[in-house]
Amino acid sequence: MSSFFNNPKSVLLGLDDIMVDKSKKEESNMLYNSIDNNLPKQEQLDRLRASFADCDKCGLAATRTNIVFGSGNANAELMFIGEGPGADEDAQGLPFVGRSGQLLTKMINAMGLSRETVYIANIVKCRPPSNRDPLMEEAQACIGYLRSQIQIINPKIIVCLGSISLNFLLQPEGKVKLGISKLRGQWQDFYGYKVLPTFHPAYLLRNPSKKKEAWSDLQIVMKELGLELPKQSE
Ligand code: URA
Repeated sequence: MSSFFNNPKSVLLGLDDIMVDKSKKEESNMLYNSIDNNLPKQEQLDRLRASFADCDKCGLAATRTNIVFGSGNANAELMFIGEGPGADEDAQGLPFVGRSGQLLTKMINAMGLSRETVYIANIVKCRPPSNRDPLMEEAQACIGYLRSQIQIINPKIIVCLGSISLNFLLQPEGKVKLGISKLRGQWQDFYGYKVLPTFHPAYLLRNPSKKKEAWSDLQIVMKELGLELPKQSE
């Protein structure tokens, strides 16, 4: 697999101050060079957030109300990645607080966890107008911030919510389309991080019959994290 660290230009993706330079998380304690990784993780996240408080690296800056950085536990073992903020998230500056967010919270709770124990972020940090999908150039301008969040938090498992999240995280150049229906519930690798794709909560709201499949995906994650599975699935 080619490395996003190989080419500093493509790695920077609009980030001037966060340089990623190693290909495997286990090889790299220092994947970004402007934040002291001896600091507590929350402080590293705070510094990262402050580093792009006025970001105008893509057109979404013009229409956003708030940058939606991410929320949750800086020491989380489990990280959820969505696609981008909607209207509620843009208004509050927090990820997944609208209808999809309510379902995501239920999914997290069903795993025996809470939003406070996991970390939730998005591919793009600003709302695409009318909730359209993020454009390639918007995702590419923003993805470095997400990579830095991943590197700071260093979760055991990343759950990609939906196709946009899966595709922009695993192959931001968009060479091939990774199908969520095909890949959901199957482990993927992101530079040493275990990634499990599942359906986006918004899709589940539109297609409630798919919740069963999403729940079976989440149980794969629970097993990997050593969480207690519901009786009927043991
Ligand atoms: N959908 C997403 O992908 N992210 C959010 O934060 C909210 C809705």
